[in-house]
Amino acid sequence: MILERPNVINLKKLQSQLGGIENRPAIQELAKIIKLFQLYQSGQKEISTKLENLDSEFQINYDYNPIHHMESRMKDMQSLLKKAERKGYDLTADSIQKNIYDIAGIRVITNYLDDIYNVEKLLTNQSDVTLLKRKDYVKNPKTSGYRSLHLVVQVPVFQSKGPVDVPVEIQIRTVGMDMWASLEHKLRYKTNVDSNLVDKYGNQLKDYSDELERIERGMQDIHKKLI
Ligand code: GTP
Ligand code: MG
Repeated sequence: MILERPNVINLKKLQSQLGGIENRPAIQELAKIIKLFQLYQSGQKEISTKLENLDSEFQINYDYNPIHHMESRMKDMQSLLKKAERKGYDLTADSIQKNIYDIAGIRVITNYLDDIYNVEKLLTNQSDVTLLKRKDYVKNPKTSGYRSLHLVVQVPVFQSKGPVDVPVEIQIRTVGMDMWASLEHKLRYKTNVDSNLVDKYGNQLKDYSDELERIERGMQDIHKKLI
């Protein structure tokens, strides 16, 4: 068996590397936040395993995989503290635990539109998973044209002193929505693009988002007829 053990972190070095953050947490507080990361990473693993299990059960029972692939990411310390600072939260482990829900994130890329809601239902129906937040940008896309289902679920992680509930952010979207979001993200975050072009491409992408939705619905209908 391979055990993946976390690296020992040099707190002093980490603290000195936190550029751009006004009130850097003291070493003891930083140590507490690192413990939080470990806990949230375990929560992320719990949810990933549940999703993998659901997908393989589908493969066996229905000869069909709702999930195309999954990605997971942990927020890094710098962007976590920056976000807390931006939102006006204290830079302490307690305040971060209370206010920030996207330390652990999973992106689930599905094949078809209906799979988004199927995956949501199958996961949130599990007795140890609690839905904390839900934003449906598939039914109500953002003005940019961005579409995805955003959930924050809570799952217990069993630690040496007992269970601790951990929030995990899940973005569920189709392959088409994912392709769209990656390109749009590039457009928004590339700083060297002329602002006229950002507007032009932004409008073009907005139209493509509507077009993609129409195409994905059509393709799903064909897929259903072939089952
Ligand atoms: P925060 O607490 O700031 O994260 O706010 P929030 O969780 O309410 O934000 P939101 O629901 O808008 O989702 C944030 C995440 O969704 C971002 O980190 C992106 O991954 C994604 N996202 C949201 N809007 C867009 C968009 O217009 N374009 C792209 N490409 N991605 C988006
Ligand atoms: Mg968020």
